[in-house]
Amino acid sequence: MNYLHAYHAGNFADVVKHLTMVAIIGYLQRKDAPIRVIDMHAGSGRYSLTGREARATGEADAGIARLFENGNPQLPISLGPDADAFAKPYRDVISRLNPGPELETYPGSPLLARHLLRPNDRLTACELRDIEYYKLQKLFAGDPQVLARNVDSWSNLKALLPPDLKRALILMDPPFEERHEMDRALDAITLGVRRFPMGIYMLWYPIKAHYMADNWAKAMAKRKPDLGVETILRAELYVRAPDNEDQLNGTGLFIINPPYTLQKTLEDALPVLQRHLQQAPNSERFHKTSVEAM
Ligand SMILES: C[S@@+](CC[C@H](N)C(=O)[O-])C[C@H]1O[C@@H](n2cnc3c(N)ncnc32)[C@H](O)[C@@H]1O
Repeated sequence: MNYLHAYHAGNFADVVKHLTMVAIIGYLQRKDAPIRVIDMHAGSGRYSLTGREARATGEADAGIARLFENGNPQLPISLGPDADAFAKPYRDVISRLNPGPELETYPGSPLLARHLLRPNDRLTACELRDIEYYKLQKLFAGDPQVLARNVDSWSNLKALLPPDLKRALILMDPPFEERHEMDRALDAITLGVRRFPMGIYMLWYPIKAHYMADNWAKAMAKRKPDLGVETILRAELYVRAPDNEDQLNGTGLFIINPPYTLQKTLEDALPVLQRHLQQAPNSERFHKTSVEAM
């Protein structure tokens, strides 16, 4: 396994994934009952945007930096009322983590989730790679609300689900380095929903060529009758034409049991975000950013 998220932290895919995660957590927190966030692929939790890895790719410059004026974390750019409301809790956490005028630190999904937890909420963060787990564990050392685990989350699913709390978000964000990663993720969702049908599951996937995303959506749709869930959302945002299989051209999410408000929220916000995050002019020309219920 070679993948290190430090090279990609804060890129356009992180922005869309993390914004959506924050929106789902906000929805779950509308009720007083405590929630658990289960982050199955946590990474190290916190990334330097000025370090060697981030500078080598510059991906955050075309991602999170574009949601602030000149990349200044204290100056959010206006995205319009709907997208601003959607992005606010996320941009607030980034501003708090970066008190100066430079964007230096980007929160990974577990740190972002941790910032949003109320006192009775809990986070489980799983990371397989030792070097990443070591940093993750250090980040949350002594935190009674966070359980960091050095495990293969796919094979540990039965220990993770059902969780102790009835309201939970399960994030799946594998590196897609292996050929059958999507099959593994769909198997995990199938087993997960069987063990914990009330959970909200969010799976991220990369989009290089559009036909790949379509094939995965077909595979997901095929599982739906077995899952017995009412709704699965497929949300995608493109930053350029999905025709070069060597690069990440778009970002996708499957959300199983989405909050009922999420489709409309994403329909309003994603086209606005696309205009800010696109890397080829008028990328909506090549493929429309879309949110569809399956
Ligand atoms: C895309 S990164 C995660 C980024 C993180 N979710 C975020 O948004 O900040 C994927 C992480 O999953 C870890 N990983 C890969 N396979 C895993 C497995 N089977 N169980 C747990 N972690 C795994 C990798 O080491 C890597 O750190």
